[in-house]
Amino acid sequence: EAELIHMFKGIPFTTRSSPELLKSLDTFDAREDDVLLVSYPKSGTHWLAGVITKLYDTEVTITSPIEFGDISKLEELNNLSTKRIIPTHLDYNMLPPNFKKKKCKMIYISRNPKDTAVSMYHYYRDNPNLPTVDTWTAFFDLFLKGNVVCGSWFDHFLSWEEHEDDKNILFLFYEDMKKDLPKVVKKIALFLSLNASDKDIQDICSKSSFSEMKNDTEKENSDPSHTVCALTSNRKLIFRKGAVGDWKNHFTPKQNRRFEEIFNEKMKLSKMAKCFIYEV
Ligand code: A3P
Repeated sequence: EAELIHMFKGIPFTTRSSPELLKSLDTFDAREDDVLLVSYPKSGTHWLAGVITKLYDTEVTITSPIEFGDISKLEELNNLSTKRIIPTHLDYNMLPPNFKKKKCKMIYISRNPKDTAVSMYHYYRDNPNLPTVDTWTAFFDLFLKGNVVCGSWFDHFLSWEEHEDDKNILFLFYEDMKKDLPKVVKKIALFLSLNASDKDIQDICSKSSFSEMKNDTEKENSDPSHTVCALTSNRKLIFRKGAVGDWKNHFTPKQNRRFEEIFNEKMKLSKMAKCFIYEV
């Protein structure tokens, strides 16, 4: 199973992201109206993607992630005639420089890393594209070391937070979407310069509930080439529990202390990350 993962620039990727594709990202051509949907895995990417597609009344395409597939994928993206909404799990440093130069709009969604770790643990267990992990304890160590696909949660978050003041990047939190989805949807609409009436927003929110999205997914046939997450094309693996605070059902008190120790050390200069530990 070692061949499920390969390293690129020090970060573990699945073999679903070919090294040739990853290498050519540096020269990828961005369009000014591209929108990037950025996340560390398990932060609510599919939820956000669902909301965003419902906000547009013009033709847009959520492409598969920029880092997913082989090199032919870049040509495919180049040939797309509609506006592109491009998901990615890349950290800021690996993002194709043209997106930065053209100041494309980017939305970064993050989630309490304790819940992210738990969600990722279940994903590792259920997703045949990822290596086997035997126990939560074993996964917990891998996560803290950044020895998981897409690398360290801490590094990923910090690489993006460094650009907190960039006007073209909107930062969102999974927990805020759980607390007040209409408020977050309004924020997204404003950021993307889209009109949405209160009725539209209400509609979008009810269609984007966990149960609605899970139901929709169970009804549809999955198309392996169309995926929002580079780690699976099977949407049925995504809608597990959709809750805030599930970490409390997994972390031992000792694991929690260790997690917070490492969190406090790694995130000591982070302003944005404080909300995760001190609010939940
Ligand atoms: P859990 O594993 O904790 O249930 P991603 O899309 O980035 O892979 O994130 C997946 C996580 O988002 C899963 O978390 C999933 O249940 C949750 N999720 C997906 N859709 C959701 C929704 N509509 N409402 C709340 N959580 C949702």
